[in-house]
Amino acid sequence: MSKAVLIGLIGVVVMLGLLPFALIARSRATKSENTAPHLVLDMDKQPRLNPQAPSPMFADGRAMRPQIAGTVAREDLVARNEILNDVEKPRLVDDSANVQTIDSPEKYAALVLGRVRPAGMTDEQFGAMVPPAKPDDQEQMFYVKTIPAQIAVTMDFLKRGQERFIIYCSPCHGQSGYGDGMVARRAKGLQDAGSDAASGWVTPKNYHDDEMRQRPDGHIFNTITNGIRTMPPYDKQITVMDRWAIVAYVRALQRSQDAQLEDLPAADREKYK
Ligand code: HEC
Repeated sequence: MSKAVLIGLIGVVVMLGLLPFALIARSRATKSENTAPHLVLDMDKQPRLNPQAPSPMFADGRAMRPQIAGTVAREDLVARNEILNDVEKPRLVDDSANVQTIDSPEKYAALVLGRVRPAGMTDEQFGAMVPPAKPDDQEQMFYVKTIPAQIAVTMDFLKRGQERFIIYCSPCHGQSGYGDGMVARRAKGLQDAGSDAASGWVTPKNYHDDEMRQRPDGHIFNTITNGIRTMPPYDKQITVMDRWAIVAYVRALQRSQDAQLEDLPAADREKYK
């Protein structure tokens, strides 16, 4: 065999040896309808049942299994535990130090609904009450005027309110409550640029309007709980006690932007006259 033929043969063998790699590279770069061959199945493929499908495996013939009696979804626990319907001592609890005993329908209305319930009213009468046409109508006390007296408005409570306010309200209302949060600014920018993306956007209320200052505390509480006009409700995200803490903080914000000389300790007043 001549030297040239030998070199030629070695060349062909080397080229053939590279072929598997070329095929692997190709299959990695192209799409295929076939599933990849599995040497070890692990749990990649196993029998399963579709929702609503029948199954001979269970006595009732249903693939979907009903809830086991007595089980409670975790998210239900959060909502229900807020008010423990203990017959003896129903309590309003959350993770703050505030634990309130609800021992009358009047207290329930004030603490959980932010509403006034005159003593001796039946459930039907209470249910039939309608909010006043003007939310700040003092003639008709529908919402409690101030945070219920059982709740101790301490510095810690206000700080908790501030924290919750910054998380849940400031994106729209702004950290100082002027209605100029980041979401509001972005929406305004889009509207000014003529974009449809923010066409339905309504500017969040400025808390420092006279109208807002005059709202009863219970009205603000109700706004957080149920939302108002275009503002969504926050009852699922914010516990009852945290809602009151936010109300307290909104009041502090309003006071801070409308401070009077008399709010200062007497000794400091001279300096700012
Ligand atoms: C997604 C944006 C958004 C968030 C978040 C938001 N708000 Fe609002 N809020 C609005 C808008 C918009 C309005 C005005 C609604 C309207 O007039 O249609 C409003 C109105 C209000 C008003 C005035 C209601 C009235 O007329 O008496 C209060 C008080 C208020 N919000 C408090 C809060 C508090 C407290 C939070 C946090 C728990 C909060 N908002 C979170 C958008 C928001």
